Parts: sequence; structure tokens; C-alpha cells
Amino acid sequence: MSFLTKLVLVPALLAVVRSEFPFDLEADLELEPGVTRNEDLTSYRLPEDLDPIHADIEITPYFETAPAGKEPFTFDGVTRHIFKAVKDNLNAFVLQDNVRDVRTVSLTTADGTLVALNAANPFERIRQYFFLKINLAEGITLVNGEIYHLTIEYIGNINETPMTRGMFRGSYIDNGTLHWYAACHLQPTHGRQLFPSFDEPGFKSTFNITVNRPANFTETFSNMRIRDTVDMGDRVKEYFYQTPRMSAYLITIHISAHFKVLSENYDNEKSYRIIGRPNAEGQGEYALEVGPPLTKWMEDYFGIEYYTMGEDMKNDQLASPDWASGATENWGLVSYRELRLLYEEGETNAADKISIGTITAHELAHKWFGNYITARWWDNVWINEGFASYFEYFAMDAVDKDLELKDQFNIMYLQSALSADSSASTRALRHTVNSPAEVTGHFSGISYTKGASLLLMLKHFLSEDTFKKALHTFLVDRAYEHAFPEDLYRAFKAAVTEDGIIGNVDIEAFLNTWVDQPGYPVLSVSVDTNSGLVSLKQDRFYLSATATPTDETWPLPLTYTTSRNPDWENLTPSEVMLGKTHQIPIEPGYDWVIFNVQQQGIYRVNYDTKTWENIANSLRSNHATIHHLNRAQIVDDVFALMRSENMKYDLGFRVLDFLKQDTSYFSWYPAITGLNWIRNRFLHLPEVLAQYDEQMYEFLDAVIKDLGYDVPSVEPVTKTLNRFYTLTFACNIGHKGCTEDAVQKFRAYRDGTSSSVNPNLRRHVFCQGLREGGYEDWKFLKERLLRSNNQADSIAMLRSLGCTPNEQAIQEYLEMLLSDNIKAQDRLNGFTFLFMGNRGNSKVALQFLKQRVADIRAAVILPASFNSILSNMAAYLDNEGLDDMEQWLRNNQADVPEFNVGLNAIASARTSMKWGTDRAKEILEAVQGSGTVPGGAASIIVPTITLLLSSVVAMMLR
Ligand SMILES: *[C@@H]1O[C@H](CO)[C@@H](O)[C@H](O)[C@H]1NC(C)=O
Ligand SMILES: *[C@@H]1O[C@H](CO)[C@@H](O)[C@H](O)[C@H]1NC(C)=O
Ligand SMILES: *[C@@H]1O[C@H](CO)[C@@H](O)[C@H](O)[C@H]1NC(C)=O
Repeated sequence: MSFLTKLVLVPALLAVVRSEFPFDLEADLELEPGVTRNEDLTSYRLPEDLDPIHADIEITPYFETAPAGKEPFTFDGVTRHIFKAVKDNLNAFVLQDNVRDVRTVSLTTADGTLVALNAANPFERIRQYFFLKINLAEGITLVNGEIYHLTIEYIGNINETPMTRGMFRGSYIDNGTLHWYAACHLQPTHGRQLFPSFDEPGFKSTFNITVNRPANFTETFSNMRIRDTVDMGDRVKEYFYQTPRMSAYLITIHISAHFKVLSENYDNEKSYRIIGRPNAEGQGEYALEVGPPLTKWMEDYFGIEYYTMGEDMKNDQLASPDWASGATENWGLVSYRELRLLYEEGETNAADKISIGTITAHELAHKWFGNYITARWWDNVWINEGFASYFEYFAMDAVDKDLELKDQFNIMYLQSALSADSSASTRALRHTVNSPAEVTGHFSGISYTKGASLLLMLKHFLSEDTFKKALHTFLVDRAYEHAFPEDLYRAFKAAVTEDGIIGNVDIEAFLNTWVDQPGYPVLSVSVDTNSGLVSLKQDRFYLSATATPTDETWPLPLTYTTSRNPDWENLTPSEVMLGKTHQIPIEPGYDWVIFNVQQQGIYRVNYDTKTWENIANSLRSNHATIHHLNRAQIVDDVFALMRSENMKYDLGFRVLDFLKQDTSYFSWYPAITGLNWIRNRFLHLPEVLAQYDEQMYEFLDAVIKDLGYDVPSVEPVTKTLNRFYTLTFACNIGHKGCTEDAVQKFRAYRDGTSSSVNPNLRRHVFCQGLREGGYEDWKFLKERLLRSNNQADSIAMLRSLGCTPNEQAIQEYLEMLLSDNIKAQDRLNGFTFLFMGNRGNSKVALQFLKQRVADIRAAVILPASFNSILSNMAAYLDNEGLDDMEQWLRNNQADVPEFNVGLNAIASARTSMKWGTDRAKEILEAVQGSGTVPGGAASIIVPTITLLLSSVVAMMLR
């Protein structure tokens, strides 16, 4: 699964279980004796009584016109499981099941002899735990070590939207006609919706898939190639080759009348194809350009070929207009949300284009880490997602150096890990999960970002050769099997021992601490200027200033360099700090020492005041004396240290003053996050805000001059990205140069004076154009959205449409979000775009919510999405709006059972305003350099509005 869109699911709540269940829950059913399991921790888990060997799955789908006796958008299914009993005396056993209806069940031995089932109750469905329990006749038990065949006839649903996963339907419009298709998204716990199954990653088997498609449809796409087809009149029976031995969640089937290969490499042995709707012709070229070299690079790096992993392996990538996450790594056929795979020159912006490359790398890396070897259970999903995220950046970096992904990893992933992992409620990489909702929740930022950052730190610690060797050993050792973290540790231990490196550091203990301990340290550095001696201390870093300190330590690989002889290229740690404190003698006579060179380690650094002052002076006189990734580190660390009250604002802003000259993307990306976070807490204080913004314009001066308002035909991509994010920030805060240029560009486009706006400028140009425009301008852009044939572009339009302040336009926007013009997967973002787009829009949306609460809840499908709408709305409301929302929630608890989510968000919005009010004076003085604040900030508290985008939401929309 890819990181970008799954963040929507972070606040996954228990209620998700309800939505994933196509029926009403029956009363709590008790398991009969004979099925053993631990009630407390593993109630949703299959007991390890059976060892699956193989399954056949045969699907006959019905679309909008179903024959008599069949329901539209359902399918008939037959599955045959071949498994071995590995326990004595089983008189009953369970599989996972969440299909529409189970019709018949029969059991035979391997030679076809019927095994008698309990005549009165041959099978029962235990809905609460998604179990199908098979009851053998009294006195009959499975023989330990024997092989059995279990055949089940059933009916499945082709669910209404991708949000419920399983097999679902999606649609697209081609030349005015709506076309349906069916697709499968089974990760992580939705295999049971496609067929009663051993639906846990640790249970692996081979699969033979058969599909009876309508005869007038095009060929079905699945994990494997079609082995044979049989004409059956109005249907065609398609037999697919047997899959490799794999987990059930990796199965996929895509059935449609028209989907086709958009581009391919015409290499039968190492086939690489991009598949999509026929009217996306021409948009698969970029994906084809990056995919084969990525596959090749990984084959070389891991020392295991891709195309020999299964019989007649293919490597298809399919663009699905409807998809719940960013992409999913089904073996042989990866499915992507369309905007993550299809690129249209002149329409797709650089950020979305890069994510096509990185997400492809992520999904391809899963072929080795996830498919070939698989975490035993989702408690260690980081083994799948951490590796995939690491190679997402570093494999793509190897294939295209110009994207500077090695460096972008820091600001996109490492700093994101530091942010997510600094709350008191963060979780360790290995974290116990049981129910489907808990499983989904563990596909959280930490599993991706911290997992990947740990691997990066490890690579520098061990050297790339040893790192590579360990990965190869791990993959070979656990091929086609499941793996525990201990298997990985063992592989690292073997590689380290063989290469005779890292002395007496116990690599298994090292890894164990980082995997099992939540959080990470801040390193406090104190320099004795006379002797040069550096004293170090590590403490767990909590972002909240009121968090109770705790005293864990981490084995910390240290790198540092000093002003006397700065060396930014040596990333090999000089030592590993194992205790709470440590000392390093350095020859005196340096101004500063910088720890965590190029920020390749998972820790923040705080210095004594004198050292900070020296760093600040050095940066002010020539920021290039410090490496750009360490400037990025300093910016990110300083904001975190100020927020956690480990650093005074005046010192912090003295350090940050260099941003007035630095124009690097790597400095500005974290700077915008930090500056915006503070600014969002001043929105209810108009005079403070005005003065803060004046200072922001000064900060922005040099970087905007350097970037300009237009995109030259040739420039580094990070400069394009920097302009994209920086001008969006500048226009949002009313920077005159930015807003005037944007409005002028928008009007020229609207008038037809200019035929297009560069996609890398559209975000702020269209947004500002609508902010300063009227209903007709909005309508103009809406029509452009409806005409768009590239999904990345249409999402960019949707985002801009949310910027309108026009009441009629806002009403139409809200209606549109609930209509078929907007896909279910985009509706939550659609609401957020509106709140973010223009101050005051959330108040209009609140009135809409009051009238249409049931419609909105139904339109976004997932309870977690509806909850996010409530929380995000509160985050953007002013005081008056918060009071209004609170009163409505309190008065309508029966209609809005989620009211507590809203009330919590309201409380947190008020806390954030108070945070701003309490610190306004101190921060303004710090930002302004020194001196007093005219008028005195605290006396001018006029409530207007607040806006508290959590970093999670901001990343999701990036
Ligand atoms: C689109 O549909 C119209 C009317 O049904 C038809 O005349 C036209 O040929 C179609 N265009 C394409 C490109 O198929
Ligand atoms: C396929 O045939 C069915 C039944 O005749 C018909 O309803 C449907 O529209 C056809 N679909 C396509 C894509 O031609
Ligand atoms: C699965 O299909 C393959 C053909 O691809 C066949 O050789 C094999 O016997 C089938 N497996 C089982 C268990 O039926």
C-alpha cells in the first residue's frame, strides 16, 4: 500500500468494522469448543490448525444487467481449498469469510472420499469475527498430517465503491457514456470478501484463478497471464496460470469491457505493461519509462530476479480511476489510483509526476519485501512498508538522479517520521494488532516513514555492501514464506559477522530497540570551548512541552563535523552512543560542531546557547558553509525545539534568520511547515497576524526573487517544487507580488489571452484567481474540471474550486461533492480543500452539514472519513463557528452519534487559539528580531478564524 492516500485512514476507528461488513451484525456468537484461540489478543486470528497448500477460485460476475435469479453487481463464486491438517483431533475448523452468502460446503480427502459434516449444522458463519466454521459429523476428526479438499459455493458482492474494498465496481465516462468495471482490493483484511479464505499474510499458498467473463467484455486482467480460454456462449471462461506461493491479500482480478494496454515494452520474457481505460491513451508513457529500469535495478540490488519468481511472470501496472489507497502491490498486476500512474504532459504537475516514479518504485519493491517474503502478521507491517518506502526513494534515485530523491527523502520521510513519532501516543514499529480496524490503523505513518528511516540509518552504520548482503540473505532465507523481525535481525547478524564490522555492537539488540521502542531521542550537545570536549546526553523527544519525561535510551550511531574542517560527505558513524550520556574529546578552536551529518539518523539535535549563536552567525554570513541537508535539519529541529519549549523563540528565530538569504528547497520545505504552523495559531488575532505576515514577506523576499513567477523550460526539479509550494504559501498569506501575478495569469487564461497555465503554477494561480473572482470564474473552472481527462489535473482543479468565497459557488461545490461527478475516494479531500481554500468557507460548510448530515455520511462511506470531516471543519472554524458547531452537536446527539469526535476537535481548536494568544507577544518579538510590539499583542484579541491543519492532513494533500 502506498503512503500518500492511506493517511486518510489514520484515525481508523472501530466503526470501520461495521462499514466493511455487508450485513448487520448478528448477536455475539460464541465459538464452539474444538476451535482454540486466545480470546484476548487473537480473537480475529485463525488458529494454526491447518496449513493451506492451494486454492482454486472461480468467479462469474454480474454487472448492471443480471440474468434472472441473479442480482446486479454480485458474483457467483466457487472455491476449493487444499490444505493439510497439522493438529490432532479437529472436529471443526475455521476460515475467514465475509462474502454475501455461503451456499454449500463439502469436504473430501485428497483421493476424493467424502468426509461427513455435521448434518444439522455443516457450517456456520461467525459474523463478529468474520469466521466460517466447518463442523464435522460427531466422532469424525481430521487426521493430523493428511491433506483435505474443501469446496465452497457462495455469492459475493461487487461493492458500490472502492472504499469498502473486496471486489468493487468503479466507473469512467468515455465520450459521454458511463462504463462500469469490477476490481479487487484485498489488502489488508479483505480477501475474505472475495472468497472464504485463509486471509492472513502468514498463510501462504498457490492460487488458480478462473473467471467467466461476459463474452462481449475484453480479456480479464489478473495476477498471472491467461493460460487458456473456453468459449461458453454468452461467457468466456478464462483460466489463469497458477500464482506463486503467496498471501491471499495479493490476489487481484480486473474485469471490464474496454480496459486495455496503454503502453508496453513488447518484451515477452520481461514484459512490462501499463493498463488503463481506453480514453487515457497516451498517458502511460512516463510510467513505462521508469518501470523496467526500476525492476532491473532491484533485481541487481537484491540479487533475485523478478521474472523467475513465478511461472510465466508478468509485471503489469493498472490505473484504476477508483482506488481506495495510492496503489496496491498485487503480484503480477499492481493497481494504482489513476493519478498515481498516468501522466499527461502539460497537465500533470511535477509533484504528481515524481510520485508516479516513487510509487512505482514502492510497489515494485514490495515484490521482494511483501510478496516474496511477507511479515507474519500485520503487527510488523513495517517489514513490508518500511522497505518499500526506503526503496521508493533510493531505487528511484538510482534510476533518475535529477529528481534529487536521495535528498528529498529527508524532508518527505525522515522529518515526517520525526514529527509523527514525537507524540506521547506514538507506537513502536512492532505493535500488537488484532481486529481489522486495528490492522488498518497500523498502516500508519510510522510503519512507512520510521521504518524507512531506520533502514537508511542502518545502511550508513553497516556500509552499503553489508546492508545489501543482509537483505539478500534475508530474502533467500525466507523466500515464499512469512518472516518475523528476528529473521531479519539474524540476517544482519550473519552479514555483520562475515564482514567483521561494527566491533562489539550487538546488531540484534540494536535493531530490537529501534523496532520495539516507540519514539526517538533528542541529543543535547554541550561544548566546553576551552578544552573542546563535547558532552552529549540523550532524552526521548516529546513535542508536547507538558509531556512527562521518560528515560529510554537508543543505540545512536553518531556523525559530526566542526567548523574548523567541515566534512559533509563522511556519513559513516564514528561511534555508537549506547548510554544516556557520552563524551567526545575534540581539539578546541572550533566555532560550532554539527551532529547528524546530512540528517541520516533518527534523532534531533539541540546545542548549548553559545554553539547555537555561532551556528546562527555562520548561517547569516554564509549559509552555504553548512550542507543543505543540515540546514534542512536545523530548520526542522528549531521549530520542534521551540514548540516543545526546549529553545526560546528569540534564539530560534535568530537561527532561522538565514532563510532571508537561503533559497534552497530543502530549507524552505520544512520552513513553510513550521512558519505556517505558528501562523495558523494567530488567525484569530488580526493585528498579530498582520505583523507576522509582514515579517513573512521579508523572509520570502529572496526565495521568491530567486524562483520567479514563471517556470523556465530547464531548471532543477527541486526548484520547480520549491516554487510550487512557496508561491502557494506566499499567495495564501497575501504576498502582493504573488497574488497580483496569480490574478493576472488567471484572468489572461479566463479571457483566452493565454491558452494554458503551467501545471506547476496552477495551484496558487487558480486558487487566487477564484479568491478574487466571482461565480462566473468558478463556473469556468468547474467546467474545465468536468472536461479534464487526467486525474491528477482534475484533482488539482477540485482543490482550486475550494478557494472560492462566493456563496452560490460554495453551495454548488458542496452539492457536487455528494454527486457522481466526484468519486467517493475524493470526497473527504474535497471538504478539506474547501476549508483550506478560503477563510470563512468552513462556516458555510457547517450550515450545509447541519442540513445534510446523513447524505454526507453516506457519500464518504467510511466512518473514519466522516469523522475527519467533523474534525477538519472544527480546525478551520472561528470562535463563533465553534460555538455554533458545539451547540448543534450537543442538541443533535441522536442524529450525530459521532458528536464526541466533533466536540474533541472543537476543544483542540480552542486550545490552539489559546496557544497563539498566550505566545503572540513573545513570538512576534522573536520574529521581528528584537524590540517591542507596537500596540501590544495581548490587548488586541479579536476572534476571527482558526486553521489548524494537522501535519497528517497536510501531507495527505501534498
Ligand atoms: C462519440 O459519440 C458520438 C455519438 O454517440 C459518435 O457519433 C462519435 O463517433 C463518438 N466518438 C468517438 C471518438 O467514438
Ligand atoms: C454486452 O452484452 C450485454 C447483453 O447483451 C449488453 O447488455 C451489454 O450492453 C453489452 N456490453 C457491451 C460493452 O457491449
Ligand atoms: C493449477 O493450474 C495449473 C496450470 O496453470 C495446473 O498445472 C495445476 O495442476 C493447478 N493446480 C491445482 C492444485 O489444481
